[in-house]
Amino acid sequence: MAKPRSSRLPPRKSSSSIMFLAMLVIFTFLILILLGLGIFYIPSGDSRNSPKPNDLSSIVHNVVDRSYVDEARGEQWVEAISWEPRAFVYHNFLSMEECEYLIDLAKPHMKKSKVVDSKTGKSEDSRVRTSSGTFLPRGRDKIIKSIEKRIADFTFIPVEHGEGLQVLHYEVGQKYEPHYDYFKDEVNTRNGGQRIATVLMYLSDVEEGGETVFPSAKGNISAVPWWNELSECGKGGLSVRPKMGDALLFWSMKPDATLDLSSLHGGCPVIRGNKWSSTKWMRVNEYKV
Ligand SMILES: *[C@@H]1O[C@H](CO)[C@@H](O)[C@H](O)[C@H]1NC(C)=O
Repeated sequence: MAKPRSSRLPPRKSSSSIMFLAMLVIFTFLILILLGLGIFYIPSGDSRNSPKPNDLSSIVHNVVDRSYVDEARGEQWVEAISWEPRAFVYHNFLSMEECEYLIDLAKPHMKKSKVVDSKTGKSEDSRVRTSSGTFLPRGRDKIIKSIEKRIADFTFIPVEHGEGLQVLHYEVGQKYEPHYDYFKDEVNTRNGGQRIATVLMYLSDVEEGGETVFPSAKGNISAVPWWNELSECGKGGLSVRPKMGDALLFWSMKPDATLDLSSLHGGCPVIRGNKWSSTKWMRVNEYKV
């Protein structure tokens, strides 16, 4: 009775092992297909640090970082003040220590401001600009490097596209008549191309006057909350009141790379107090120093 059974068993055994092998092959193919489709993945060593495609958590993380309150600078936020010209105020961009550092560095080297002659490219004395100023070379030291990196982050323009930092001092009665920051000549655009944007940092508070005014700005200029604090000159356009540590970014070119005529701007005469500011001009291309 056992004999027929034992003779039947071997084929049965081999058929189950074939079944097992076939299952193994199908399973292997299934895993390969899932891997190929990306439904299934083998975690790599640093998968926690490198974001996966379509994973926005790294961007969200940066946004959270930006709201971080820096003790030395106070709360920071950006306000869009105008779209014609495109202008933004970054509140508490610099700390009080950074403002004082820039003033102290520049103070011994202040000279009467000049304007660039559009025909020759040379600097000339001018009555339209009565302040005094000096240039601090790009990347001069650690503090300046960190400010220049912050400007690059704010503007999305690389540090290498920036001119040196200019520090300006306006005393009572001193001003800068409305002008454009872009050039209308060939000479000044040879190095770096056109000026695309300006970041103007206020290094001091001004008791009265000294506003940055955009006389050609479109929109309701009297709708700004600080309208009643503006000088007569300041009421001549869209104005920003100087506040220590604040930075004003405005664009001299439109997104289509044409010159923005609404970027006309000036520095109103200081009526009471002292105005210290620092300007960073950004070029379309790398500016060689
Ligand atoms: C401009 O804004 C001011 C203040 O909000 C308002 O009183 C005035 O009516 C506005 N003017 C126009 C033309 O919209």
